[in-house]
Amino acid sequence: MIYLNGEWMPIEQAKIPVLDRGFIFGDGVYEVIPSYSGHPFRLREHLVRLQSSLSAVRISNPFSPDRWEQLVRETVARNPWEDQGVYLQVTRGVAPRDHAFPKGVQPTVFMMSNPLVTPPQSLREQGVAAVSVPDNRWLRCDIKSVSLLANCLLRQAAVDAGAVESVLLRDGFLTEGSASNIFLAKNGVIITPPKSNFILPGITYDVVIELARANGLPLEIRQVSEAELRAADELWLTSSTKEVLPISTLDGKPVGHGDKAGRPGPLAARMNQLYQEYKRTVMRAPAKVQESVAK
Ligand code: PDD
Repeated sequence: MIYLNGEWMPIEQAKIPVLDRGFIFGDGVYEVIPSYSGHPFRLREHLVRLQSSLSAVRISNPFSPDRWEQLVRETVARNPWEDQGVYLQVTRGVAPRDHAFPKGVQPTVFMMSNPLVTPPQSLREQGVAAVSVPDNRWLRCDIKSVSLLANCLLRQAAVDAGAVESVLLRDGFLTEGSASNIFLAKNGVIITPPKSNFILPGITYDVVIELARANGLPLEIRQVSEAELRAADELWLTSSTKEVLPISTLDGKPVGHGDKAGRPGPLAARMNQLYQEYKRTVMRAPAKVQESVAK
């Protein structure tokens, strides 16, 4: 069951007018919220990020946080899967085609859910191939915009090369992945770029940083040059759907050094273990428990 502008219906029945600005211009924003055993994970944080995307593109938020929370929970309740990825999208609405904002138009609100399919343990132990690609997106990658053409082209570049993700470089520095954030490890230190207009502030990125700090793992949040990326001992990507997924090769070359090259290293393995433990104990718990642990 999906939600569209105040109504619930099977997805096959959902229709939007062709003049919706999401369809015509990609003029809208979205969120992907994982839900484990009926409990949406970090719902408030996702709604804060939604608000900052909406504010950045000057679409007024159609709902209060409480109403959003209710709708997300209802989406989960109306769908059958134990673990779900709730997708929600707000576009500027329907209007005759003109680049400038229309006046007096209601935003289009669409919500659906899909089974949450996360990488199996075998893949987390083995790692995946990635390729490096110039980051040719715009300068507001912090907005979770539905205008994802650049991200689609960048992801397809990875698929064409037989890889799973593209690792993006802008002006000689690491930004993120086409649909993920990137971490590396060097000499026992976890390193990741800071939040800025060049990356999406990932919810999973925050979790990994919190887990590193809570468990005393050395962590540096700073710019990463291309040379450092290529010399990394370990690399991994994070997202709500991919969780913590080690990268075993970059541009066909094994990540890391010596006889361990091309196999996920100790910090990736440790972070994976911490994340899976967190998922078992916290993410499957009600919001109150999630919040008390985060504090
Ligand atoms: N993408 N960076 C980009 C460009 C992303 O699209 C995503 C997530 C992330 C990770 O964010 P989070 O940890 O909050 O999932 C980083 C989602 C999953 C998507 O578009 O399907």
